[in-house]
Amino acid sequence: MNDQTKRRILFVDDEPMVLKGLQRSLRKMRTEWEMRFSSSSQEALDILAAEPFDVIVSDLRMPQMDGTQLLAEVKRKHPQVVRIILSGQVEQETTFKSVQLAHQSLSKPCDADILKHTLNKLFGLRNLLEDESIKRIVSQTETLPSLPAIYTEVINELQASDPSVQKIGDIISTDLAMTAKILQVVNSAFFGLVRKISNPKEAIMLLGTETIKALVLSVKIFSKFNQKKFTWFNFDELFNHSMSVSMFAQTISKEERLDQYLINNSLMAGMFHDLGKLILVTNFQEPYQQILDAARQNKRYLWELENDMFGTSHAEIGAYLMGLWGLDYPVVEAIAFHHCPEKSLSNSTGLLTAVHFGDAYDRLKCDENGADELKQLDRGYLDNLGVCHRIDDWQLVCKDLAERKV
Ligand SMILES: [Fe+2]
Ligand SMILES: [Fe+2]
Repeated sequence: MNDQTKRRILFVDDEPMVLKGLQRSLRKMRTEWEMRFSSSSQEALDILAAEPFDVIVSDLRMPQMDGTQLLAEVKRKHPQVVRIILSGQVEQETTFKSVQLAHQSLSKPCDADILKHTLNKLFGLRNLLEDESIKRIVSQTETLPSLPAIYTEVINELQASDPSVQKIGDIISTDLAMTAKILQVVNSAFFGLVRKISNPKEAIMLLGTETIKALVLSVKIFSKFNQKKFTWFNFDELFNHSMSVSMFAQTISKEERLDQYLINNSLMAGMFHDLGKLILVTNFQEPYQQILDAARQNKRYLWELENDMFGTSHAEIGAYLMGLWGLDYPVVEAIAFHHCPEKSLSNSTGLLTAVHFGDAYDRLKCDENGADELKQLDRGYLDNLGVCHRIDDWQLVCKDLAERKV
């Protein structure tokens, strides 16, 4: 591997002993990685300003500027740099905060093989999203939806030092059409609420900010597509499917006792797993109509036909857009690989598992043969995770949820 193709990695830790240990244990990677070691956040930022890097691996606890602050700066100034946190056992709570800034968290001491595997996985997603076919498709689209301003306003309020439910409710209420749709959704049997909700503030109090956040974004995005212009595609059906998958994904995430951060993000991942379809429907009308017909007639998977025609599928296109919007890595990963999870190289149960299962389960009801079989499930992937024995339980909890909806 020559110097041009080597990955450039910057390690940051205020303890010289830790840096020395890292240097020693990672020596064998010198042929593949160009490594720099820095003992302070400020110095690391100076190095990043002077030279390009692919990855930063940072400690959490450091004087002056800690790892969370450092990664926030790196995210702002050098968004293309992959961010990894290295944390000790006692730092679990801070890790929870920083996980939103990092693409991945690893625990100390850092094993070279684990770091190598993690980096390969992260670069895998990055390469996938940098694929020329996706860029070509995206560059041809005229209506690439942008992140709605009202969603950014809600996020800003949530990130304020003292977020107020009243204020978030007021922000949502300014958009009457969106509010009406959100109230219609939260009052549907899906949420199983015993009393009727009449305003956004009540909805936030009962369902929590994560649910409302996902609803604001999805209702707003879906509202941008005019059903009358696309009579051959049913947007409501896609919205309902996305809603179902998000609820199933959240239920599986809770069943598997995933980290609260992942549970919070499961709705978002489920809600937008098929976002790429919206882009293809609205920008490639004729070819996409043909693909939809062919999928129905030939009983082939839509994503396979998309790959044949566009060289990429709605999964990667949706993930690319979510990545552009700055959504968190696990959400982007879950969307990118929801049809082919084995390609993710993911080795633990997470959002991708939950969305993959939720999608396959929701497809059951569309099966014209009424087969009681989860055809879309990638059993090899689930077997590798050691969770095949959980499939029956997942089916039961999803069935309960779906029956509540009817
Ligand atoms: Fe899909
Ligand atoms: Fe789907």
